[in-house]
Amino acid sequence: MKVLVIGGGAREHALCRSLSLDPDVTALHCAPGNAGIAEVAQLHAVDAMDGAAVARLATELEARLVVVGPEAPLVAGVADAVRDAGIACFGPSAEAARLEGSKAFAKDVMAAASVPTGRSYVCTTPEEIDKALDAFGAPFVVKDDGLAAGKGVVVTDDIAAAREHALACGRVVIEEFLDGPEVSLFAVTDGRTVLPLRPAQDFKRALDGDEGPNTGGMGAYSPLPWADPKLVDEVMETVLQPTVDELRRRGTPFAGLLYAGLAITGRGVRVIEFNARFGDPETQVVLARLRTPLAGVLLAAAEGRLADQPSLAWRDDAAVTVVVASHNYPGTPRTGDPIEGLADVVAQDAPHAYVLHAGTRLADDGSTVLSAGGRVLSVTATGKDLGQARERAYAAVDRIRLDGSQHRTDIAREAAEV
Ligand code: AMP
Ligand code: GLY
Repeated sequence: MKVLVIGGGAREHALCRSLSLDPDVTALHCAPGNAGIAEVAQLHAVDAMDGAAVARLATELEARLVVVGPEAPLVAGVADAVRDAGIACFGPSAEAARLEGSKAFAKDVMAAASVPTGRSYVCTTPEEIDKALDAFGAPFVVKDDGLAAGKGVVVTDDIAAAREHALACGRVVIEEFLDGPEVSLFAVTDGRTVLPLRPAQDFKRALDGDEGPNTGGMGAYSPLPWADPKLVDEVMETVLQPTVDELRRRGTPFAGLLYAGLAITGRGVRVIEFNARFGDPETQVVLARLRTPLAGVLLAAAEGRLADQPSLAWRDDAAVTVVVASHNYPGTPRTGDPIEGLADVVAQDAPHAYVLHAGTRLADDGSTVLSAGGRVLSVTATGKDLGQARERAYAAVDRIRLDGSQHRTDIAREAAEV
């Protein structure tokens, strides 16, 4: 089948890599892509946010399946435009993607479906904000209602900073602080049947030891040796299936990837957030472990046939990914620097370690790879356990040279010692 992937980050590179290894995929296209994706897919300079243009491209390419990677096009209705053109699309409708696009909507769905989450208030006035901050006390959790590219959530002990962020948001969700390790659990769903993937953990802070500002994610690993083996079953029963059932009941079924961001608190599992798409960088490690060819699973979800899909098969391997970011990320990053050593990773570390590109582009010479964003590369490795996957990932990171770049050195370190 011919497949078109929309997006151009490391998540889309991971998706394209898995799809390129799937014998059922006869042609792979990506828009807009990046310098790494160009090695496995044909790139098209189409704006991911333009539903009509994406649908036109999919029609021209005679794509059997379109996979929409990022949240912004989903919330903007790009999957609807593709389906309206008669092409199967993996990714929820704009209505269903509100689960990620509006934190207040997500809270409403969770309340209706009795899904465990932090207590919260939706506030629009300074009076409501002060009342909510007083009710919970420190640490304060303040979330912009809308999409904010990872910048909408402030967790702070400083009430002045909490109030300032809340006032800047307009509509804001103020929430109880949830204490405990975080887990990301993804599920593929056709709106009725839910197929969970393997849990992963990401590292949101910029610096070692979970210091520094929040980022889009600096690394991830899977499996989670410290987690309760019953976690996936529990989250299926208390979170994923009830949420999918509630959205179907409302007449806006959610078909695509449902991402549950969870806190494992002393009082049990709580949902921190939902996303309506694969998470980045967790996708890099989850897909590294998936044995079942990906295209058939995504197509079955897009076509409402997931109930007929055999259960997913997994490798025993562990996987670790380390993000290499530009100088000054998550502030305005420095871009346009040459990246060296990529060929050394291919020569010395493949197939156990490989580089997935995030913000990269080819220079005009057609061969030099340049940095083009905050998160530049996601260096991914597999191994018999997390320790070996970690060693391989960091060995590959050490071969890469990008002036001023930064990465965390403690991805999966504690988990590897469990
Ligand atoms: P989000 O942008 O919703 O992924 O939130 C970013 C990060 O803020 C999460 O990964 C958590 O680390 C933190 N966070 C969000 N909500 C809470 C909460 N209620 N309690 C504690 N930390 C939170
Ligand atoms: N890993 C966090 C996210 O994708 O939102």
